Amino acid sequence: MEMIIKETAETTSITAARWVARLVREKPNAVLGLATGSTPLKLYQELIRLHQEENLDFSEVTTFNLDEYIGLPRDHEQSYYTFMWKNLFSQINIDPKKVHIPDGMAPDIPAACAAYEEAITQAGGIDLQVLGIGSDGHVGFNEPTSSFASRTRIKTLTRQTLKDNARFFDGDESQVPQHCITMGIGTIMDARCTLMLAFGKAKAEAIAAMVEGPVAAVVPASILQHHPHAKVFIDDEAASGLQRADYYRWVYDGKPEWQIDA
Ligand code: F6R
Repeated sequence: MEMIIKETAETTSITAARWVARLVREKPNAVLGLATGSTPLKLYQELIRLHQEENLDFSEVTTFNLDEYIGLPRDHEQSYYTFMWKNLFSQINIDPKKVHIPDGMAPDIPAACAAYEEAITQAGGIDLQVLGIGSDGHVGFNEPTSSFASRTRIKTLTRQTLKDNARFFDGDESQVPQHCITMGIGTIMDARCTLMLAFGKAKAEAIAAMVEGPVAAVVPASILQHHPHAKVFIDDEAASGLQRADYYRWVYDGKPEWQIDA
């Protein structure tokens, strides 16, 4: 894992966006895996700015989102479909035909999950997967004890996740759908590189467990320790539980010119 620690969520997101933009410029038909939630919002804002002010071109980019709630129609204001169109896709020149978001209203969800996996394979696999982390260590919606070999499938959210996400549903935990479709951990690990973002004190414990704890299914994100190209962009607060934060800062600050890609 490569740790990139910046002072604020804003500077961290801008640094992460530079890395995404670099990939899109080098490979205009890149396949991006995308996340929702509050964490990637500033990253998406910066990508929009790069598109509007610096001609970052998304016309050939393909995207696959990590997850979606089961039972929310696409036009529901809290569906991840609505989130993505509102916060990113409507403001860049993406081809709607190249956008993929799991369909939480599909009549046959297991078949839709298998088709989603197949679509990722047909697209040539994911070049870069954007990730957030749950306070319980989930990645995508792979909750603790999810199989490291899992593929896109139905999952039941933990009480902790329902509680965390109640803020998007008028603070009412009972309105948060209990079930979701999520890429599996195996799906995420197949991405050629991963870009995890985490901000704020509420994520410090999960980040410490992911980076410095044992690799264990009870902390699903810890599997990223086995990923050959995993970058972790966090702010000072999310880094506050790390025992070796000074070392990670020292490594990043001392990176030779030829090695700098973020
Ligand atoms: C969202 C996703 C989740 C979130 C995580 C953190 O597509 O896959 O893993 O990244 O729940 O959510 P926020 O960013 O709202 O703290």
